[in-house]
Amino acid sequence: MPSFTLTHGSSTAEVYAHGATLTSWKVNGIEQIFLSKKAVLDGSKAIRGGIPLVFPHFGKREGSDLPQHGFARSSTWSVVDSSKPDVLVLQLTPEGVPEQLRKLWPHEFKLLYTVSLGSHLITTKLDVYNTAEDDAAKEWDFTVLLHTYLRVPKIETTHVAGLKGVKFTEKINGITDKEEEREQVTVAQEVDRIYSNVKLPLTVHTDSEILTVSKTTSFNDVVVWNPWVEKAKAMADFDDDEYKSMLCVEIGTVNEFIQLKPGKSWSGSQTLSAKI
Ligand code: BG6
Repeated sequence: MPSFTLTHGSSTAEVYAHGATLTSWKVNGIEQIFLSKKAVLDGSKAIRGGIPLVFPHFGKREGSDLPQHGFARSSTWSVVDSSKPDVLVLQLTPEGVPEQLRKLWPHEFKLLYTVSLGSHLITTKLDVYNTAEDDAAKEWDFTVLLHTYLRVPKIETTHVAGLKGVKFTEKINGITDKEEEREQVTVAQEVDRIYSNVKLPLTVHTDSEILTVSKTTSFNDVVVWNPWVEKAKAMADFDDDEYKSMLCVEIGTVNEFIQLKPGKSWSGSQTLSAKI
């Protein structure tokens, strides 16, 4: 599968056409993004690691036969603009979606994904268009997420700040409406939480770095995920020990569906900036 390299000074990034998945972002040669050594990169399945794009729904959608996290991460995106070394624009229309998945979501749409690299930061922006003619029956809805896998040197000395006071749902046991009490959110077991209506930028602290995650207000929620020991073992494309060197901090709107009328669009972006 083709991939594209972006450069800006001493920073680089790599994005695959398959799923428009960003698989690497290096600042001064230091990798910020986790990519499993078992990730399948030939286009036969979604890439395990990087920033897979979750669209048109997060998780499984009741009443839909589409797979978990939808089809965007398993589709072939095409290049719209690669004329600058530090910007890449990719596009997905129904033609790029595998036929068996397209049939399960037969709507008219276009997604544009713009990756812009700076010296210590990277912005990933998703624009969602309902390309149908003006016909009320052709309105559709979606949830969306940038499923960012951060590479961390050691999970035990990593924490996330900025979530104190935010309500969350525990996906593992379905408990809702809990409130985060910790200033520093650490991970010492499986975690799979949807934090709702997150307003502030978050910071991810490791021994050597501080990474700031900011977003536009069109993204409401943040999922924090680490599969830990047992789930890591159960994933064919994830090595048993790799849970120790990653943390997913995923910006999205997943609690409520966004309605999109024909001719309308929605846009959301995140910026990751690294202080090394
Ligand atoms: C996270 C979900 O976003 O993605 C988890 O909250 C899920 O529940 C994880 O396990 C990985 O999903 P997948 O489909 O890539 O294995």
